[in-house]
Amino acid sequence: MQSRVGSYGSLENGKESYTRTTNQSSRPLPLRLLQFLLLFLGVGIVFSCLSLYTSRFLKIQNVVPLVQSRIQSCVQEPNNLEKWIRPPSNLIHTMNDSELFWRASFVPRIKEYPFKRTPKIAFMFLTRGPLPMAPLWDKFFKGNEKLYSIYIHSLPSYHPDFPTSSAFYGRQIPSQVAEWGMMSMCDGERRLLANALLDISNEWFVLLSEACIPLQNFSIVYRYISRSRFSFIGAFDEPGPYGRGRYNENMSPEVNLTEWRKGSQWFELSRKLAVDIVQDSVYYPKFEQFCRPACYVDEHYFPTMLSIQSPHLLANRSLTWVDWSRGGAHPATFGKADVNENFFKKISDGKPCIYNNQPTSLCFLFARKFAPSALEYLLEHSSKYLGF
Ligand SMILES: *[C@@H]1O[C@H](CO)[C@@H](O)[C@H](O)[C@H]1NC(C)=O
Ligand SMILES: *[C@@H]1O[C@H](CO)[C@@H](O)[C@H](O)[C@H]1NC(C)=O
Ligand SMILES: *[C@@H]1O[C@H](CO)[C@@H](O)[C@H](O)[C@H]1NC(C)=O
Ligand SMILES: *[C@@H]1O[C@H](CO)[C@@H](O)[C@H](O)[C@H]1NC(C)=O
Repeated sequence: MQSRVGSYGSLENGKESYTRTTNQSSRPLPLRLLQFLLLFLGVGIVFSCLSLYTSRFLKIQNVVPLVQSRIQSCVQEPNNLEKWIRPPSNLIHTMNDSELFWRASFVPRIKEYPFKRTPKIAFMFLTRGPLPMAPLWDKFFKGNEKLYSIYIHSLPSYHPDFPTSSAFYGRQIPSQVAEWGMMSMCDGERRLLANALLDISNEWFVLLSEACIPLQNFSIVYRYISRSRFSFIGAFDEPGPYGRGRYNENMSPEVNLTEWRKGSQWFELSRKLAVDIVQDSVYYPKFEQFCRPACYVDEHYFPTMLSIQSPHLLANRSLTWVDWSRGGAHPATFGKADVNENFFKKISDGKPCIYNNQPTSLCFLFARKFAPSALEYLLEHSSKYLGF
């Protein structure tokens, strides 16, 4: 009761003081009235300005979408099938890995394409910075533009300077630091796969480094890969400390010791297996947590996972030739002094291997590792030794 009275009271007090003031100012009425009228006028002006501004703002609000939609209808791709099958014109995007992998995992359920699809090979270069062998690759790619696409993952700080005439121009994908033997390396490989999956024409995915070169011409490489019933990834069960010795029991039951595989990271994979890798959430956490140096995750994660999920799709060997004969932790690197006729004889005279369940002498399409100093000789003799 008291408070209600109080609150009423204060209102009444206000009224009282108002009347008192008007009463008090009853004598110099004209001046006060003028002031009052002026105040009124001022408020009126402010209000009209405000209303003008708001109405204008509202009008702009109405106009903007109209203009935008007009601009868009001029620039926008036609709203037909084209928009679903045309590859992104720019490889730069602002999707983070979760968003990118989600988008890349879209798979059509109808297996027959309702348009003419020319399957391409995605050549994915996992590098630190420069690609010294780019001129040789450019020679290799020349004339096969409809059959390949290129993706480069490098240190984010690296800014490439390929000439516009190069097949590598503008093929950089949004990258992050990738360290050898760490999960960030597999992340980089998954990022390459995911970006390449955004182009629906890419059917085969080849992982390469800056030290890799092609050993055959494009026609041979394309035919070999496109006609293979298996994907080429090294996957073997190796006893001893560098194979089974790196297995951690905490990985079971997802991965058992007998399922543990090892292989070089330089793979060639079908579109199906590329999607399997990008969408994996079963094996990834196990390898991330329990395969750390001296377990080198890039040598085990994909070979093991794919051997468990799709053993019938794997050739269990790599297409990339490498020389471990010198021993040590790293394979041999070949420079100017090493590349010659004998060298290429040695590469092509290797043991036969199995291709589509048949023995063949053509086992390798790529080779590593080559130093920049080898480039000049390779360019000069590519038609003799490499077939292009
Ligand atoms: C990507 O962005 C989304 C939305 O902001 C966030 O939920 C997700 O955790 C991010 N993923 C990564 C890998 O940063
Ligand atoms: C691993 O071994 C356990 C016990 O032998 C078995 O129950 C489990 O199914 C195996 N896991 C796989 C993925 O084969
Ligand atoms: C590759 O190895 C798996 C076992 O991990 C086997 O099932 C498959 O048949 C092998 N592939 C070929 C082509 O021999
Ligand atoms: C590719 O190489 C093969 C064998 O080395 C050769 O027969 C063929 O003509 C070459 N193709 C092109 C397009 O150069």
